[in-house]
Amino acid sequence: MVQDTRAHVTNVLVIGSGGAGLRAAIAAWEVGREVVVLGKRQRTDAHTVLASGGINAALGTVDPDDSWQQHFADTYREGYHLGHPRAVELLAREAPVALAELEAWGCELARTPDGALDQRYFGAHTYRRTCYAGDYTGRALLGTLDDRVAELGIPVRAEEYVSQLLVHDGRCFGALAFHLGSGERTVFYADAVVLAAGGHTRLWRRSTSRRDENTGDGMALALQAGCRVGDPELVQFHPTGMVTPPDMEGVLVTEAMRGEGARLYNAEGERYMQRYDPERAELSTRDRVALANYLEIAEGRGTPNGGVYLDLTHRDRDDIITQLPRMYRQFMESAMLDLSTDPVEVAPTAHYSMGGVVVEPDSHATDVEGLYAAGEVTAGVHGANRLGGNSLVETVVFGRRAGAAAAAFSASCDVQLRQRATVAAAEDELLSLVTTGDEFARPLQRRLREAMTDHCGVVRDDAGLAAGLEVVADLRAHLDDVDVRPSAEGYGDLAHLLDLRASLLAAEATLRCAQQRRESRGAHNRADHPDVDPELRLTLTLRLADDGGLVLDRQPLPDVPAELQAWLDEAGDLDVAGRLLE
Ligand code: FUM
Repeated sequence: MVQDTRAHVTNVLVIGSGGAGLRAAIAAWEVGREVVVLGKRQRTDAHTVLASGGINAALGTVDPDDSWQQHFADTYREGYHLGHPRAVELLAREAPVALAELEAWGCELARTPDGALDQRYFGAHTYRRTCYAGDYTGRALLGTLDDRVAELGIPVRAEEYVSQLLVHDGRCFGALAFHLGSGERTVFYADAVVLAAGGHTRLWRRSTSRRDENTGDGMALALQAGCRVGDPELVQFHPTGMVTPPDMEGVLVTEAMRGEGARLYNAEGERYMQRYDPERAELSTRDRVALANYLEIAEGRGTPNGGVYLDLTHRDRDDIITQLPRMYRQFMESAMLDLSTDPVEVAPTAHYSMGGVVVEPDSHATDVEGLYAAGEVTAGVHGANRLGGNSLVETVVFGRRAGAAAAAFSASCDVQLRQRATVAAAEDELLSLVTTGDEFARPLQRRLREAMTDHCGVVRDDAGLAAGLEVVADLRAHLDDVDVRPSAEGYGDLAHLLDLRASLLAAEATLRCAQQRRESRGAHNRADHPDVDPELRLTLTLRLADDGGLVLDRQPLPDVPAELQAWLDEAGDLDVAGRLLE
């Protein structure tokens, strides 16, 4: 690696160039702060582009009875009461303004014939409240935010990998990063940092995340900086990921397919969701549909390739191409299947981290002074089951809040901290990783993904989770022997090793909390504890101790404010008893 480290000084450093990161950057810039955004991938290729089906806001354009309070009730109730009530309230209350802002910035969303924003059904929403741009909604949102960032002149640095957050005396003052191509190191000094680095769902073999994204690096950076992480075991498995061809395994098949009427069948031709949830069938909650798909396959009623059938053949081809253009192309181009004539095979795939960094709901401040977090890297909104379409709106609602709070913190600083010893230690640590060895990171990453799939998938139990922890310990023993050297393509090896280290920490956190959550609630299904335990309506938290071990604790959740509790009472109690595991 080149010898010298460059320095870049700013007010607010944003780590992550997806929806949450860009929205945070805009918010900080608009109040006069200097901002720089770092992204691991190319500009406008952050994971947000993969979000397909839509973004929620109780606009009532199609169903006028909708309200933000009903959006709150649906989100909180279907999160099995594990969401933070204040965070859920802010999400639902501020979603309409966030949508209006996106519209004003030119986001092209589908319209009704009279010109209002169209809204479609997503699973378990009482009303149609999901706005969309075909099935390219994430791309439309990210493109809009990126245009706004460009218009404001906010610098975005692509292909920067952050190896460490810089923290001294409980205060974050920047980050050390290297360029994935040139290897050039930069220390970014900042008054405040917003971490918007995504989740950890690439820890599973079948995942809707691409290679090298959502590796748990955001969670690991936060833990190493001194933050607590909450409920990492609450991972959403999307019911419908592709099964074949092998190179497409896990790729998202949007819930909008079911929103547009697609039905699920097992290999015996049974439309089985009517058995699991007679009222909502395919538009049940994701946790229920994912578990049903899992059980149909596990109990021998799956397809020869280990999936179930998703069938939209009763819909007209032109309608499908208009409403679901990405899906139509995806199946046609990868498998020569025509959605208007061919049912397709799908199976559960790891999709979204509902747990993550513990933040204060209003400001999204973490436990570390000067460090804020937003988007999928955080915990709080989704509880034990996220409603489709709530992730994109989370990025803009809380990206804005985190960016504004980081900017305010920056404005309150008299001096900028630059603690040289911390920077030097971070550089030494990074340089020490560039060395020869007998192992490669990629195969070790693959072993971890297999282990998480086998031991911590849709259904878990104590023996499996213990076996998973053994694999983590075994893989850790190889870390010092991983070969890292620059290649013609750059410093990918170094990023893979850092990803592996982060993934092992995220995996350990996930397995440990999954062991402790001795109940089945939402996406967390324990075969050995099939019922909800009311005592576990709390956040399981972890922090990193000085010796590198994870220390577990429990944080109570506040009650729902009385005026919102009335909306929950209206909706009726959530029928969680016994669930689907018997
Ligand atoms: O199925 C989907 O289109 C995913 C949407 C989401 O996760 O919010």
